[in-house]
Amino acid sequence: MKLIAPSILSADFARLGDEIKAVEAAGADWIHADVMDGHFVPNITIGPLIVEAVRRVTELPIDVHLMIENPDNYIAAFAEAGAAYISVQVETCIHLNRAVQLIKDCGSHPGVVLNPSTTLASLEWILDDVDYVLVMSVNPGFGGQAFIPGSLDKIKALRELIKNRGLSTLIEVDGGVNEKTIAEIASAGADVLVAGSAIFGSRDYQKTIQSFRGKISDY
Ligand code: DX5
Ligand code: ZN
Repeated sequence: MKLIAPSILSADFARLGDEIKAVEAAGADWIHADVMDGHFVPNITIGPLIVEAVRRVTELPIDVHLMIENPDNYIAAFAEAGAAYISVQVETCIHLNRAVQLIKDCGSHPGVVLNPSTTLASLEWILDDVDYVLVMSVNPGFGGQAFIPGSLDKIKALRELIKNRGLSTLIEVDGGVNEKTIAEIASAGADVLVAGSAIFGSRDYQKTIQSFRGKISDY
């Protein structure tokens, strides 16, 4: 079954608790939280304090996407704040295996993230150790960007790789997921669809999520 993960980056932060409750009531599966440090990406967003606040208003798993340098220094804090899933960008980790083990030791599910230009070869010696791979389908840093079409071939190739190894690793896709792109992305092999602006920018979250489900139910 495919999962839908609204990214709170596009939520109204003045009403964050209500926004989270609204997407939960609308049928979201995970809550995606984008952590940016102004170094790895130009933008600065949220820290463990906000994740802990989100934790208090929802039962849904919180999926923390770390777009930060030196992620090892912050993994424990995000796990303690209640992140069920934590992913690190492979480009930021000299000791990727250590970061993944640290996420596990902290009791969260580990994931690794690939930028659009990062090759699948970087997964060779880490794929067996992670619960999910996040394929970035925009350059990280901002919501509301256009889906990079070449991501579809990458998702398909990753699906093959996972199948050939007999793994059950989830593929998450993040960036430019909307009414127009979601069917192709699901058909290419994505399991978890992150959507920020397409959900929080819509008038009726429930209608949007239901419409997404309708478009991906065949895959
Ligand atoms: C981008 C973030 C995404 C972002 C997606 O750097 O990782 O999670 O919120 O936004 P949309 O769905 O608007 O492309
Ligand atoms: Zn993200």
